[in-house]
Amino acid sequence: MQTTQKRPIIIAIDGYSSSGKSSMAKALAKTIGYHYVDTGAMYRAVTLYAMRNGLIDNNGTPDSKAIADAMPLINIGFILMPDGSQHTSLNDEDVENEIRGLDVSNNVSAVSAIPEVRHDLVVKQQAFGKSKGIVMDGRDIGTTVFPSAELKIFVNAPATTRAMRRLKELVGKGIHTTYEEVLENIESRDRQDENRKESPLRRAHDAIDLDNTDMTIQQQDQWLIDRFNEAVEKHPEL
Ligand code: DC
Repeated sequence: MQTTQKRPIIIAIDGYSSSGKSSMAKALAKTIGYHYVDTGAMYRAVTLYAMRNGLIDNNGTPDSKAIADAMPLINIGFILMPDGSQHTSLNDEDVENEIRGLDVSNNVSAVSAIPEVRHDLVVKQQAFGKSKGIVMDGRDIGTTVFPSAELKIFVNAPATTRAMRRLKELVGKGIHTTYEEVLENIESRDRQDENRKESPLRRAHDAIDLDNTDMTIQQQDQWLIDRFNEAVEKHPEL
């Protein structure tokens, strides 16, 4: 693939749950030699910590104050695996598999609505982007974390399409679930992500839309490389 090599930029990829953001962000980062940061994994790791420490009750209601107080005890990192993939760590433990399960998925929107959790993680995410050369995916990257990112993409696809994709992914990982359960989780997360008070899921006004329903992975990857090259050309100061 042809890419343009210039001074590094910040690339923000936001969108709905299971829209394929992470896969495309990872592929782009690899092609252009940028760092990749999965901010959803950071919210998932905080959620896992809260679940393990009894900070979420049986109805799924988080103890916001206790979780806010625990933030200094939660150390999130990314481990580079020998195959080049990235795993998430929580206090030095590899929790990659656990944070992707349905239990964490069912609780993560409530935890990520806690203002102190967001403030803490946003500061960490901004630190990752200090020297640019980064692809970050999430819900609020183009609006809150890096409002002046040189390239912002907003990804969407119908909930039913996203549920089918997610089901395939979970089944591939040996996680037992049904289409209905996955769709319900996706629709519920969409609602919570869009309606929370603190930096809700919003398309940045200057984001480029991508509906990838009818795109192959290759088409999507090429589309993104084209937008990257355009963004670099558009910023002559870089
Ligand atoms: O991208 P993901 O599905 O792994 O994200 C998990 C949850 O984390 C998602 O339901 C909302 C939350 N999240 C967020 O609030 N802000 C972000 N920047 C990334 C994720």
